[in-house]
Amino acid sequence: MTEPVAAPAPAVDPASPAAPAPGAVGAGLIELVDIVQRYPQDGGELTVIDGVTLTFDKPGIQVLLGPSGCGKSTLLRMMGGVRHPGVASPTSGTVNIDGEACHGPHEDVVMVFQRYANRPDLTVEENVRFPFRTKLWRSRIGKAEQDERTEAILEAVGLKDKRSLYPAQLSGGQNQRVALARALVLRPRILLMDEPFGALDAQTREEMQALLIEIWKGFPCQVVFITHDVDEALLLGDRVIILSTQPARIADDFVINEPKPRNGIWLQSSLANELRGRVRQMLHQGAA
Ligand SMILES: Nc1ncnc2c1ncn2[C@@H]1O[C@H](COP(=O)(O)OP(=O)(O)O)[C@@H](O)[C@H]1O
Ligand SMILES: [Mg+2]
Repeated sequence: MTEPVAAPAPAVDPASPAAPAPGAVGAGLIELVDIVQRYPQDGGELTVIDGVTLTFDKPGIQVLLGPSGCGKSTLLRMMGGVRHPGVASPTSGTVNIDGEACHGPHEDVVMVFQRYANRPDLTVEENVRFPFRTKLWRSRIGKAEQDERTEAILEAVGLKDKRSLYPAQLSGGQNQRVALARALVLRPRILLMDEPFGALDAQTREEMQALLIEIWKGFPCQVVFITHDVDEALLLGDRVIILSTQPARIADDFVINEPKPRNGIWLQSSLANELRGRVRQMLHQGAA
């Protein structure tokens, strides 16, 4: 569905954060309809997801929050049409992307993982440009636009001066910036992020959270962001969906209408404390 975009690639300008990027193609619609996932286990079956129905129809950062092992990555892989590792299409139920059933990778959907999967033998710039090597994108996006997009996204993630370095020469945060840039260079309508900052130290994690918010304003796509960290959910989420422990069901679902970026002061606010309490209660109930 993504057409080649003639407009110049955007530079994310912190001075005008609300301005959508020229050429940004907007946010995709995701529908999960009564998803059930069972895996074979010990001669029987393990139900990991038990009837999850969700619609993401407003652009923003949608946080899926749940304890480790509850099935978050399984759900996200389904949205990404990824069948590895294991079987990622649901046992029953459907995943619709932009109104059509999704059975495999979708060109408007890009995923970012905790292990950033940068190629060690390629420079920062080559890693960012990597998606253009595929036949699909090479044929859709001309060389000039590839160059413009690459420059814009290297600028947006603050890696212009590191373009010639290799991943081993970068910090964890910088490597995650490369992975984010590689995802966004395709201007996806849907960005799926699986605990992307989970392996970073606290300070780098805060920097990356702030960067994601800033970048989102220039590339306002549909972000589904997985975390098991309550404060991360409260800092990033326009909407927060809480999954119960195995089998995953929706335990709670709320909107946070608080402007971003949010900071440590917001985390101590009465609303944040109330939401944190609500989340902890739900997670505790699920674990009981
Ligand atoms: N391909 C698979 N085969 C069997 N069990 C799996 C498979 N993938 C995930 N699981 C199990 O499903 C549960 C949920 O896993 P996952 O979605 O990775 O959870 P989370 O991301 O919330 O930590 C875990 O118990 C995990 O062992
Ligand atoms: Mg996971």
